[in-house]
Amino acid sequence: MPIETALRFVQPSGQHADLLAVPFGGDLTADVELPVPVPALLAHHEAKGEPGEVVEVPVAHGDAVRRVLLYGIGDATPRALRKAGGAVARRARGRRSIDVTLPPGVGEQGWSALAEGALLASYTMRIGASRTKAVEEIRFLGPEEARPAVERAEVAARATALARDLSNTPSSEKNPAWLADRAVEVAGRSGLTAKVWSPGDLAAEGFGGILAVGQGSASPPRLIQLAYEPEDPDGTHVVLVGKGITFDSGGLSLKPTDGMKFMKTDMAGGAVVIAVLGALRELGARARVTGLVAAAENMPSGTAQRPGDVITHYGGRTVEVLNTDAEGRLVLADALAYADDVLDPDTVVDLATLTGAISIALGRDIGAVFSSSDDLAKELLEAGRVSGDPLWRMPLIDDYRPALDSQVADLSNIDSEGKYGGGAITAALFLREFTGGRRWAHLDIAGVSRSTADDGVLTKGATGFGTRLLLEWLSGYRS
Ligand code: BES
Ligand code: MN
Ligand code: ZN
Repeated sequence: MPIETALRFVQPSGQHADLLAVPFGGDLTADVELPVPVPALLAHHEAKGEPGEVVEVPVAHGDAVRRVLLYGIGDATPRALRKAGGAVARRARGRRSIDVTLPPGVGEQGWSALAEGALLASYTMRIGASRTKAVEEIRFLGPEEARPAVERAEVAARATALARDLSNTPSSEKNPAWLADRAVEVAGRSGLTAKVWSPGDLAAEGFGGILAVGQGSASPPRLIQLAYEPEDPDGTHVVLVGKGITFDSGGLSLKPTDGMKFMKTDMAGGAVVIAVLGALRELGARARVTGLVAAAENMPSGTAQRPGDVITHYGGRTVEVLNTDAEGRLVLADALAYADDVLDPDTVVDLATLTGAISIALGRDIGAVFSSSDDLAKELLEAGRVSGDPLWRMPLIDDYRPALDSQVADLSNIDSEGKYGGGAITAALFLREFTGGRRWAHLDIAGVSRSTADDGVLTKGATGFGTRLLLEWLSGYRS
């Protein structure tokens, strides 16, 4: 269920929507008669004009009553307007339509930010009977010139919704084959080519990490590739790699109930890769982009991998699996090694709900970026700031690398003695071993891929974090 709300530009006319949203201090013209002057009204509600504030006022409109939503826009930056748009759209839930105005000065970036926030906050996912529905139609009483920017923001918001949908789907339906089918569908409607490796293909080509993680499940693993060829290429090739664990029970290193509750979203990185690839053509991205999703279900069973097993990754490196719950790095290692060996990318970015440790370090509002390149880190930090998917750079500390030494294999998949701490860092160091020294960044999105509440532009459940960030980085849709 994607975003069901439609956006339209309309000219002010006699035809009113059910609601009218006007920013604090905005122009309440003509046919709206307020019962009390605006300043007194706002003072009464202790509203300061901050984004997120909405004061609902019934007004006389001819013989009838109409509702006006006075809403705060703060400093009117894109960030503030996204939040304001989200608050207005939430207030309009259950209604058919809402008219929205903005002050004349905000420009197309203001309108597009408002649109993005309103659409993201209108996202719903419900299996069975639905609660209050999102507003059906948002009508912008704005300048026609803002339309192209708003349409680009709409593409990014709908891509984010696709990522949320894929992540919110229960694992009873979502297994690796299902995820591959969804990716192939996206390819069909977005002008991409798709390739899916079956378990037989994976075995024939030596993808030992993906196979090992998937071997305990009744639903076998897949490797999914989507490729975007730009019409007007700039000559660069970017590979995006997503962790696609469709359910993470921990495997034989079983998680406790509480730790397993939300593990249907452990393919959030893969969902973002699919959603981003699906939006590149519409946004006119100029890099060639290949997406890889390493999809497996991590389950305990008689056929599951055991702690102490040694596996051989794509390209031949061996890893001692000391904890089967550190599975994300095992499937990613194969995909990263494949990207390096076969795809010859200029830049590789992986996204993964990789470690609980990163949410302890950074919390739920900001994602982590680890990178072998200062320039790439800078580009991604900037795209994160502009898009509203913010990142914080974390260090790849070489002194911690011995944590991954193994007695019997090239590497161990965890710091077995727990000597080093920094679980998100050692995980990133593990991935780095498979990147062939290429320009690479790793986004650990374990903290930010799920929201505990409807809040700002987020809806409870999967957030699609990283979709807007990567679309901004690859297409500059908001700059
Ligand atoms: N998918 C989890 C990480 C995770 C935890 C994501 C919480 C979202 C919320 C990952 O596969 C995992 O289990 N990581 C372990 C690594 C450990 C065994 C070294 C962790 O973080 O505990
Ligand atoms: Mn795990
Ligand atoms: Zn996991």
